[in-house]
Amino acid sequence: MSYNQPMLREGSLDGKTFIVTGGGTGLGKAMTKYFLELGANVVITSRKLAVLEETAHELTKETGGKILPIACDVRDYGAIEAMKDKTLAEFGQINGLLNNAAGNFISPTERLSHRAIDTVVDIVLKGSYYTTLALGKHWIEQKQKATVLSIVTTYASTGSAFVVPSAMAKAGVLAMTRSLAVEWAKYGIRFNAIAPGPFPTKGAWDRLFPVEAFPEHLRERFSDYGNVPLKRVGEHQELANLAAYLMSDFSSYINGEVVTIDGGEWLNGAGEFNHLNEIPNEMWDIIQAVIKSNTKNKKD
Ligand code: HXC
Ligand code: NAP
Repeated sequence: MSYNQPMLREGSLDGKTFIVTGGGTGLGKAMTKYFLELGANVVITSRKLAVLEETAHELTKETGGKILPIACDVRDYGAIEAMKDKTLAEFGQINGLLNNAAGNFISPTERLSHRAIDTVVDIVLKGSYYTTLALGKHWIEQKQKATVLSIVTTYASTGSAFVVPSAMAKAGVLAMTRSLAVEWAKYGIRFNAIAPGPFPTKGAWDRLFPVEAFPEHLRERFSDYGNVPLKRVGEHQELANLAAYLMSDFSSYINGEVVTIDGGEWLNGAGEFNHLNEIPNEMWDIIQAVIKSNTKNKKD
């Protein structure tokens, strides 16, 4: 068995219907594929219907699962309600929501217009609370148990320079997760989040690390596993395994949690002495000899 193989047993999501926002591309598509393989029906939504339809066609062929593409801008509450109604008409019930849609770009904050900040915050934060609210009201009214999983980032907790709108919005999504995990537990609605480190996708990489914009010597550092102690990026199946588990009934007692999956990246940026990893063994010999000799001289 290897870390990039499917983890859950066949049929683990039989009888479930999930909505995946941003499900037509990147990580949303990878998680959708695995949900379908495990037996769930999946509704994928985003702004571009043509992209969603192509993904639906591809994944139906690959998995034989039931997938419904619906165009829906998560900033439009009316569109979310219409998407919910179409889902119910097709599948009869909704058992889970994956808040995955996002917008992001890299920029010094002083270069951003207030509209640019609105754009990212509206997709990530408003999009997540609008979708969660519309479905939550439905679940509470129907006395339907459900689970909500939100894809945040490690910098939702730490903050990060140069992606401030995204950091503010993801922090809000994390606060929503922890707050509603308590408030709506009485209705049988669970809330969790995943904080991924680098999992290369076209959508993120073209916007955050356009190769033609970075000088050669900085490319690897910024666009690959530069800060990851495990020296690799994440594979989509690894994330899909975690997401499927958190959406499944196997995780029924996990509520209000954020699971980091980043190969140790954020801790590497945080530890006071972590950069000493770059010191080779021969140099440690010298450093230790000097420190021991200094300590001995002080004792004498
Ligand atoms: C500065 C920018 C900008 C940029 C747009 N704007 N791109 N400002 N730098 N790169 C400004 C525009 O000038 C405009 O402001 C305002 O933002 C709205 O721009 P539009 O292009 O009209 O917005 P829209 O068409 O809605 O596009 C949204 C988008 C786009 C966010 C800008 O990138 C998008 O569609 N993204 C969706 C997918 C995505 O971003 N995926 C990456 C997720 S990665 P003015 O003032 O001119 O009107 C992620 C975490 C990665 O989230 C973590 C990695 C480890
Ligand atoms: P992606 O392929 O660009 O996915 C973003 C999706 O959001 C797209 O399908 C996009 O589709 C959709 N979207 C954007 N604006 C929308 C709107 N207003 N309404 C509805 N849908 C909208 O990027 P990704 O890398 O897979 O990212 C997926 C998630 O993982 C995001 O939440 C991201 O923040 C998170 N993440 C990714 C990484 C990584 O390394 N890749 C790391 C940490 C966190 P349309 O353009 O068709 O609307």
